[in-house]
Amino acid sequence: MNHIVFGVTGGIAAYKAVEAVRQLVLRGCDVKVVMTEHATRLVGPETFRAVSGNPVAVSLFDAEGKPIEHIYLARDADLVIVAPATANLLAKMAHGIADDLLTTTLLATRAPVLLAPAMNNLMYRHPATQHNLRLLRERGVHFVGPESGALACGEEGEGRMAEPQQIVDAAMGIFALEGDLSGKRVLVTAGGTREPLDPVRYIGNRSSGKMGYALAAASRRMGAEVTLVSGPTHLQPPAGVELVRVETAAEMREAVMAVAPGCDAVIMAAAVADFAPRESSGDKIKRRGKESLTLELVRTPDILGELSEGRAAGQVLVGFAAETGDLLARAREKLGAKGVDILVANDVSLPGSGFDADYNRAVLLFRDGTERALDLMPKAELAALIMREVAGLLGGKARERP
Ligand code: CTP
Repeated sequence: MNHIVFGVTGGIAAYKAVEAVRQLVLRGCDVKVVMTEHATRLVGPETFRAVSGNPVAVSLFDAEGKPIEHIYLARDADLVIVAPATANLLAKMAHGIADDLLTTTLLATRAPVLLAPAMNNLMYRHPATQHNLRLLRERGVHFVGPESGALACGEEGEGRMAEPQQIVDAAMGIFALEGDLSGKRVLVTAGGTREPLDPVRYIGNRSSGKMGYALAAASRRMGAEVTLVSGPTHLQPPAGVELVRVETAAEMREAVMAVAPGCDAVIMAAAVADFAPRESSGDKIKRRGKESLTLELVRTPDILGELSEGRAAGQVLVGFAAETGDLLARAREKLGAKGVDILVANDVSLPGSGFDADYNRAVLLFRDGTERALDLMPKAELAALIMREVAGLLGGKARERP
């Protein structure tokens, strides 16, 4: 059974949330409604209690003054929906403000979140709201609506909440998407490697790890057992993912080779250094007495190449190509040379896309020669899209474990 936390904020459209909750219950979902204080002025908690069959929570404290276990609400949810989501709720969520039960639950949950915004068209169009919407999209929050039409304030325009049926369909779409990799094991590599020159210096690259972490999060949401082998990053690992931290290309190779044989899919999103210093000095290299310094670099192990040679039948392999010009021609070459099922090619010289950005513009190249050029989109969205393609290739059952 799917467990849903259904948040209701104080928009006039709150009455439509009653129907959405009723339909979710009819589809077999367990729905726990959390209302803001303002919402209770528009629809009585008793109505939601009756349609959901569960107690309705409003305050961080219950009638006896005991704290409500919002952490359990947040942790046990498979999906959190907020409908209507007012401009105020979007702003609080975008900035991590947790000042009531609903916003505290939203901050504490690792479940996917679906928002149905509803507000006056001027509030919707305000740059602050648009900025908040962008921030939330980048974090992988799902949206349904808003629609254009007559608004409660008497104006016409964008800001009308999606209809209950659309909200329910969007929720079901997320569950369908989330389940595609259940029973599968996925290995994702992320971030850049660091090749030490001496105890304090290294050769590194600009990779932030965001794409790989987004892929690990998407795989987990889709039900996979996920191992994330990560170079140094500042990112929080997604919940429920096994994290293996590494630093050098050699360490990454070792970690990957230990896990890959049992995996249904391996996604090499890491920016692995191609060369490393032949030797790393035990002591800090001194400047004194030197006018120049020559470093000798040697090739690092080609992890993807090794994976592709040794892979078991049925295992899906995804490689990345970071290019700075002539993207497609190089990517096509790499697809063949690397022996991968999907090559994700992105031009890292585009502003706002690629390395260390929150957005990415990629072309997916498939082994059968088909290509899919994608628009600039948040990395979370691109990650979900790539993992859906992987799920499609895996098709049938999970592989036998060695
Ligand atoms: N990769 C790897 N091991 C390496 C270097 C790269 O497994 N030592 C993987 C990356 O994780 C990525 C893919 O290979 O999925 C492509 O990396 P890229 O640097 O674009 O390709 P290279 O093979 O290094 O080719 P070139 O540098 O000539 O473009």
